[in-house]
Amino acid sequence: MDKLRLRLVKKIDDSYDIIIGNNIFQDIAEGLCSLKLGKIAIITDNNVNVLYGDKFLKLLKSKNLNSFMISFNAGEKNKTRKTKSKIEDVLASQGLGRGGLIIALGGGVVGDLSGFIASTYMRGISFIQIPTTLLAMVDSSIGGKTAVDTEKGKNMIGTFYQPKRVFIDINTLETLSDDEMLNGLAEIIKHAIIIDEKFFVFLEDYVSKILAKDNNVLVQAIKWSCNIKKKIVENDETEKSLRKILNFGHTIGHAIEKASNYQITHGEGVALGMVAETKIAFEMKKINEREMNKIISLIEKSGFNIKLSKIDIKEIYDNTKFDKKNKGGIPLYVLPTKIGRVEADLEVKEEVVLQVLGGMK
Ligand code: GLY
Repeated sequence: MDKLRLRLVKKIDDSYDIIIGNNIFQDIAEGLCSLKLGKIAIITDNNVNVLYGDKFLKLLKSKNLNSFMISFNAGEKNKTRKTKSKIEDVLASQGLGRGGLIIALGGGVVGDLSGFIASTYMRGISFIQIPTTLLAMVDSSIGGKTAVDTEKGKNMIGTFYQPKRVFIDINTLETLSDDEMLNGLAEIIKHAIIIDEKFFVFLEDYVSKILAKDNNVLVQAIKWSCNIKKKIVENDETEKSLRKILNFGHTIGHAIEKASNYQITHGEGVALGMVAETKIAFEMKKINEREMNKIISLIEKSGFNIKLSKIDIKEIYDNTKFDKKNKGGIPLYVLPTKIGRVEADLEVKEEVVLQVLGGMK
């Protein structure tokens, strides 16, 4: 028997900057000029295209950057393998080569899909994220999770593939709906509960200003939130340990979104999930009543509905078993032990989940 060892011990520096500012499109375009890129493909959806896509494309062209735009129909239902392959065919027919760049301009769906395309197109080409929703700014554009959905669930197929840069232009939030602001706020609140009590106190004081799009407060909240997410990803890029804490509120949250047939948004689902999982933590004597009440009142004060109303509780419970974070069919939870601290990988008895969900009717 002969043996050859192919040695592939890797040392990779995938570090990148997250740039946050007001009206930074001009700076982004000027920055791209200095990179000596091949073609640039801007991927966006039809909503963002109308608001910012054309404007951004014109700006790049005015700087003589060889760019083109691909727009697909907005919405999670289009974050599919089918949309991915359609876009890939356009990229190829436009002659985007390995030295080119993909720019994801839009919310979480655009970012997840474009990142996944960038990670497999010609075995990987560079991409940058320009998130235009609060949710994408504070969560999905940072950390390199890319994916498409399948009938079996959200984000079933994807990669870890980091962008080369993230540009957050606060002014793109001017056109964002109140519902979409709440959607992002759920993840901001989650960041505070899992790791940063000071940020939680800041949110208690300033949540209404965030929702009212007060520029100074928004910049502070987005910077704070991105800093939390960045530190967690730096510690554990591929969710082997610490990154799991970002799933607080998501075991029940995803299950609620699915049980509502996605009528409930991700943010609303995560808010309800955080309330349920905090109550579960209390039932399991992991958190005291005072801390539990503070968490629930911040979520309620922010404007989230904290009642389950018509959603079927058994269906929510059953959905948790199909969560990606399960171990042999047993769903695992991240539960708060105090504001700013959580425990991951916890099993919860069925009766506790059903009792808590029943109490939220
Ligand atoms: N949104 C959760 C994560 O990036 O890990």
